[in-house]
Amino acid sequence: MVVEIPKGLVKALNDARRVAVLTGAGVSAESGVPTFRGEEGLWRKYSPQELATPQAFARDPKLVWEWYDWRRGLIAPLEPNPAHRFIALLERRVPQFLLITQNIDGLHQKAGSKRLVELHGNIWKVRCTREGTVKEDRRVPLPEIPPRCESCGALLRPHVVWFGESLPVDALEEAMEAAENCDLFLVVGTSGVVYPAAALPQVARSHGALVVESNPEETPLTSLATWSLQGKAGEVAQRLAREMGWKDEG
Ligand code: OAD
Repeated sequence: MVVEIPKGLVKALNDARRVAVLTGAGVSAESGVPTFRGEEGLWRKYSPQELATPQAFARDPKLVWEWYDWRRGLIAPLEPNPAHRFIALLERRVPQFLLITQNIDGLHQKAGSKRLVELHGNIWKVRCTREGTVKEDRRVPLPEIPPRCESCGALLRPHVVWFGESLPVDALEEAMEAAENCDLFLVVGTSGVVYPAAALPQVARSHGALVVESNPEETPLTSLATWSLQGKAGEVAQRLAREMGWKDEG
């Protein structure tokens, strides 16, 4: 299916001086990262209650870590796709920009994104359950499961947000501010059902921003989008890049 790019959108993207982008698992789907919902989604096969809650970790840290170690192994060799690259390029062309991602896979950074906040943490970071210190650890597989803190010996946990936990306050504040103060808000590959992230496009819209959605499916956010591009993120990005005249990219 060829994604038609509305002329008005090309102009709006060229004119926008303050842009915010919200991404979800769908932006990484074409890179090979499984999404959460939908037919092949992780939550179809695995129970979030058993694997992604503080209670699950307290009950069985080994099981939780085995699952995260498996996901780390899955993500480690994967590369960014044209959608990640489009977003990184957009950042370099816009004076005021913020990428707000719900993803923990680190693929945006791998594509060159710099001005970003991670609402749900990062799978390549570990946090000491006693001291709260956060460290990057890219070893795949981890040599010891569950891993322990080098300095105090306490359990380490993945530096991600689990169900029932609050989002990092600074990241959420920054995201909210960007949503309130942008001309254009781009939403890519999110089902729009997990809050507070799902509220951000609504905040942007109510503050007068144009909202653009890229998703192969309709979502609860589609009705508030000024333009809805129905297609896979990487394909939409390549079409957009071409229409924008970014010939060497995507
Ligand atoms: P979901 O799995 O809920 O939704 C993925 C979205 O991506 C769906 O709307 C799909 O239609 C869309 N999609 C699939 N393939 C795509 C493609 N190639 N291009 C573009 N879009 C595509 O993932 P999220 O919305 O990210 O939270 O889920 C939000 C949060 O729920 C996650 O961060 C995670 C999860 O529970 C935590 O773990 C805290």
